[in-house]
Amino acid sequence: VLPPVVATRAVERLRALLSWLMRAISPPPVQIVDGAVAGLDQVALGAMLALDIPDRLVNAGTVDELAAAADADVDLVERIVNYGAARGWLRVDRRGRIHATGVTRFLRRDHPGGWRAWVELVNGTEVHAAMARFAALPTTGAFEAANGKPFFEWMEHHPDRHAVFDRAMSSAGYLHGHALASAVSWSSTDRVCDVGGGTGATLRVLLERHPHLRGVLFDLPPVVARAAPHDRLTIVDGDAFAGVPSGCDTYLLVNVLHAWTDDDAGRLLGNVATAGGRDARIVVVDAVRPRRPRDRLAMRIDMHLLIVAPGGRVRTVAEQQSLATRAGLVVRRVTWLASGDAVYELSRR
Ligand SMILES: C[S@@+](CC[C@H](N)C(=O)[O-])C[C@H]1O[C@@H](n2cnc3c(N)ncnc32)[C@H](O)[C@@H]1O
Repeated sequence: VLPPVVATRAVERLRALLSWLMRAISPPPVQIVDGAVAGLDQVALGAMLALDIPDRLVNAGTVDELAAAADADVDLVERIVNYGAARGWLRVDRRGRIHATGVTRFLRRDHPGGWRAWVELVNGTEVHAAMARFAALPTTGAFEAANGKPFFEWMEHHPDRHAVFDRAMSSAGYLHGHALASAVSWSSTDRVCDVGGGTGATLRVLLERHPHLRGVLFDLPPVVARAAPHDRLTIVDGDAFAGVPSGCDTYLLVNVLHAWTDDDAGRLLGNVATAGGRDARIVVVDAVRPRRPRDRLAMRIDMHLLIVAPGGRVRTVAEQQSLATRAGLVVRRVTWLASGDAVYELSRR
């Protein structure tokens, strides 16, 4: 269940304000060291999951019990637990007993959101290599320079990591499915195609929430091969740059355009518009870069894209609108989702 959009927007603004306040009271050397070691959150989360701490944690357990369950050194586990507790991923009480927090629950394997995969994704050696390369030699294309192939091509040659990427995308896709189910009207849609829809997390939620809908899931062959069947879902594989399945009245592009340059994103929009014909509605969902730099999640996603996806970027609302206009589309409506992203409903002129 997602909170109302006004609440999530207010929380996001408050987070940015508190972050500004934190910087305002921190001397410059502290700010520099904070930034220099910020990557430790990523690896500490990775270590917590590598030891399966969220799943092994018995409420009010001790470090000794946890270390025994993980077959790991007690001092090592204690320091990882303490770091995690300092960051709020766990809680350690006065007697040294460890408790789960709301975050721990999201990191467990059985959590329907599947957020664990995000930690596994960013801790892959290929992502670390791209980040190290970017830090030493900042250019677009750091992922390819470090790993020999562009992101999606590399993933196709590394099926285990590709599956992790798909699971990470599904966590946000599931959230977007719920957010879209109520933020957008579905009464005049019969068939909806999710272009770059991953393994179908978004579509499955939409089909459950709106039982009159039929769905078409479209993505690269190895990705849709991992999609679970559904009686109202047609699964189609292919390359969206070559063409998109026709015959649907709504087309979704959820967190897809942000991986591409303006030219490529324009080509994708053009292919979708061609497939949909005159009356189709195109629904684009993407994070929004604030007009002026603010400490928002969107800024971090933008930096991540700069490293892994050459030409990929988080666009401002104005940039997203001009992309649509260049592709000959009209932006009919822009709304915010409770997931924090914006929805752009487009159609042909
Ligand atoms: C950032 S993910 C978003 C996935 C999904 N829409 C979501 O929000 O969870 C981008 C998706 O685009 C897909 N993709 C990349 N290149 C593609 C192409 N040429 N044709 C079709 N899909 C592509 C990827 O496989 C991936 O599933």
